Amino acid sequence: MKTRVVYGSSTGNTETVAHWIAGVLRKGGADTEVLDAAKTRPEGLAEGVDLLLLGSSTWGEDEIELQDDFVPLFERLELAGLRGARVAVFGCGSSEYAFFCGAVDAIESRVGELGARLVHESLRVDGDPVQGEVEAWAEALLGAFQEDC
Ligand SMILES: Cc1cc2nc3c(=O)[nH]c(=O)nc-3n(C[C@H](O)[C@H](O)[C@H](O)COP(=O)(O)O)c2cc1C
Repeated sequence: MKTRVVYGSSTGNTETVAHWIAGVLRKGGADTEVLDAAKTRPEGLAEGVDLLLLGSSTWGEDEIELQDDFVPLFERLELAGLRGARVAVFGCGSSEYAFFCGAVDAIESRVGELGARLVHESLRVDGDPVQGEVEAWAEALLGAFQEDC
C-alpha cells in the first residue's frame, strides 16, 4: 500500500499532525511520503498511490481561508487526477472562529466534486494537536481504508 500525505501549515500544527499520521500509516505497513504543500505541484498528485491525504489549517476571520501554501494546490486540484481516488482530509483550526476548520470542509467538498471518494470522516483538530487523538484517528482511517478495498 502506498500513501501520500500533503499538508499546508503556517505555525507547524498541521505539519506535526501530518507526521503523526504518517507514523501510523508506516507502522501499518504503508509506504508513506509526506509533502509540504509549499513544495508540491498538483499535477498527478493522486496518481500512483492507494490513498491520498490532504491537510490544511484554516485562516481568515469573516471568510474561510485555506493555509497560504495550500491555496495554489487547491486552486488547481483538478490536475491531481482525483477521479476514483481514495482520499482523506485533515486540518487544524480553532473553534473560537466562526468557520471551525473551514479549510477541511472546503477540501472535502472540492475533492468530492472532482470524483474522489472520502474513505473516512475528516480529522478536525481544535487547538493544539494531541498525539494520541491524531494517532487514534489515523488507525481508524487505516481500518476504514482496508474495509473499503
Ligand atoms: C488570524 C487567525 C485566523 C484564524 N482563522 C481560523 C478560522 O477561520 N477557523 C479555524 O478553525 N481556525 C482559525 N485559526 C486557527 C488556526 O487555524 C490554528 O491556530 C491552527 O492550529 C494553525 O495551524 P498551522 O500551524 O498548521 O497553520 C486562525 C488563527 C489565526 C491566528
